[in-house]
Amino acid sequence: MQPLSGKTIVLGVSGGIAAYKAAALTSKLTQLGAKVHVILTAHAQKFIQPLTFQALSHLPVYVDTFAEPDPHTIAHIDLADRADLVLIAPATANVIGKLANGIADDMLTTTLLATQAPVLIAPAMNVNMYHHPAVTANMRRLAEYGYRFIEPGEGVLACGWIGKGRLAEPEDIAEAVLRWFAEEHAQHAAGETGDTATSGHGVAPMKQDSSPKRDLTGLTVLVTAGPTREKIDPVRYISNHSSGKMGFAIAEAARDRGADVILVSGPVSLPQPEGVRLIGVESVQEMYDAVMAHLAQSDIIIKAAAVSDYRPKTTSNHKLKKQENGLTLELEKAPDILKAVGERKTPAQFVVGFAAETRDLAHYAIEKLRRKNADVIVGNNVLAEGAGMGTDTNLVTFYSRDGEVRELPLMSKRLVADKLLDLVLEKWQRGRKE
Ligand code: PMT
Repeated sequence: MQPLSGKTIVLGVSGGIAAYKAAALTSKLTQLGAKVHVILTAHAQKFIQPLTFQALSHLPVYVDTFAEPDPHTIAHIDLADRADLVLIAPATANVIGKLANGIADDMLTTTLLATQAPVLIAPAMNVNMYHHPAVTANMRRLAEYGYRFIEPGEGVLACGWIGKGRLAEPEDIAEAVLRWFAEEHAQHAAGETGDTATSGHGVAPMKQDSSPKRDLTGLTVLVTAGPTREKIDPVRYISNHSSGKMGFAIAEAARDRGADVILVSGPVSLPQPEGVRLIGVESVQEMYDAVMAHLAQSDIIIKAAAVSDYRPKTTSNHKLKKQENGLTLELEKAPDILKAVGERKTPAQFVVGFAAETRDLAHYAIEKLRRKNADVIVGNNVLAEGAGMGTDTNLVTFYSRDGEVRELPLMSKRLVADKLLDLVLEKWQRGRKE
């Protein structure tokens, strides 16, 4: 049996030059056994013909909401109901914007609003469009609704710019679809046996309960996010690839659940979240000072920032000049903020640290839990696909002080944030009763 036998996939193709890749994707998914119903937007038809997809999928292609070939059904509702998965590849900034704002003005967007099926979005656009705050805000909103993204690749774009925005390759998108169905199957099986603390790496259910809980009302949550920068000279620094997405997702989730949120962030290029007190810092020392200044008033402290362990012993006031025989930098240990918080925390406070590892995750996470006196450590293997720095998703395991280990499947950083806050509340409230 083929791996996607019995599965119905609705493939939405929107109008970008990468629309041609959707033909290869249709062919791949069909060969894997899926029924692929293709919807082309009007702009997509400027790049590729419906006939191409009809020949590859052996099914009619949908282009017009009002065509209605079968008088017994309404095509977009019927497709929306039949889909096991909706995939948009390529997804332009325009279609992402429409979806994020509930606009339904063609066959693809009406089907998307009507469907209860999970939605996977593979964006493709110019690098500057991809990083535009309006587009990132739309994508974040969709991630909050539970939609999942297949990240675009980096390289030379059709427009001539070099950067992120190239549609993921058809093989990689097909792989993501296979992985999604495999994990959904595993989750379903785990659900049937009552195994909620899932083991194995997977993809989370995509639709979330949209009614926000206000269970953090009255609490102050202090979150750190992003990288730190340690100056070498006026033009150079030591840093890392943290984007701030994980920490910002936690701050936004806590805000939505009613908390008063203080977000201490290193330099990132994310839009400032509304309703959150944002304190921008650069170095470990600045982050340390900001955290310590707000520690006493915080009930829950969550340290998602990727903080330098070392910093240059001295910072040159002038740009270091090229030297014949190379350059040796002397580094000294930077203050460990989480450790300092762990030492100072009161019994009423709850402290969460992160562990970014590339191997032996459980070993190092448990060691950090103990050494830094945290209540929970969120372990992430930053080499795992879809996990770690810069991605919109993460693959994490929660290690709690009471010895409980909760392994989560791959999910959006926003969903990780909510799962973490669920755990924090559960453990914190239990701790207060004991
Ligand atoms: O920002 P993103 O692109 O979304 O990526 C998210 C992330 C990978 C950065 C995040 O999920 C994560 O793992 N953050 C912690 C990164 C890190 O510094 O890990 P660590 O194992 O080196 O540090 C352990 C803990 O000690 C962390 O909570 C860290 O904030 C803290 N620490 C580390 C060093 C230091 N000098 N002071 C600290 O407080």
